[in-house]
Amino acid sequence: MADPLECNAEMSLEQQRAWWNGAATSNAANAVLSDRQEWDSDSFYASGRDWLAQHFAFGRFAAVEFGGKRALDFGCGLGRMTVAISEFYEEVIGIDISEEMLDRARKAVTRPGISFNHVTTYPLPFESESIDLVYSTIVLQHISPPHNIQYLKELFRVLKVGGLLLFDAPAASFGDDGTGIFILPRDAVLSEADTQKCKLLALRNFPATSTQHYQYLFQKA
Ligand SMILES: C[S@@+](CC[C@H](N)C(=O)[O-])C[C@H]1O[C@@H](n2cnc3c(N)ncnc32)[C@H](O)[C@@H]1O
Repeated sequence: MADPLECNAEMSLEQQRAWWNGAATSNAANAVLSDRQEWDSDSFYASGRDWLAQHFAFGRFAAVEFGGKRALDFGCGLGRMTVAISEFYEEVIGIDISEEMLDRARKAVTRPGISFNHVTTYPLPFESESIDLVYSTIVLQHISPPHNIQYLKELFRVLKVGGLLLFDAPAASFGDDGTGIFILPRDAVLSEADTQKCKLLALRNFPATSTQHYQYLFQKA
């Protein structure tokens, strides 16, 4: 059987950064959420609150409660999810590879407790086991192997004991259709979780995508 990682060509992190900077400059909100060509700010940030409510509802199936001190939003873009997360966590750090996205996020989101940091590679600039919630949505799908699994290792590493990691990634492709969606095989995710003593609490098909895309919830033991 072909290795699913071979379905897509590798992109360097510098190429990814340049791509996202270009996308942010031309139409940032559409680059984040392509279902509308033009977004008004209220609807765009309201979509973040709606998504988070759905994602936290999924997590509650596993009988966990969200809320706490420190959260990380990996691949925060314009801060759509960062601001929603800040209603539950005292401090939320959004990180992104694109400084153009971050410039726009800082202008749009000025709530206390939120900060935006430019991070262009791994390891992530956080102590091990220092974050209560590590969150990421519609980000890993855009990061080519081998970088996607390296970032995932980092998301597990920075998670506190008892902390929650909630993210999504496509686990299989129905063929390389040229959309630039990169695969992170489910077995690779589960094996890394095992290595880093993180327990899978819940798994579901992530809605509204054409690949086999999962949303995962882990807790560090
Ligand atoms: C589709 S947007 C999603 C933004 C945000 N998560 C949301 O749902 O509103 C993907 C974001 O991931 C960021 N990104 C892509 N590769 C990254 C990387 N290697 N490290 C950090 N951020 C990255 C992009 O710059 C972009 O802002």
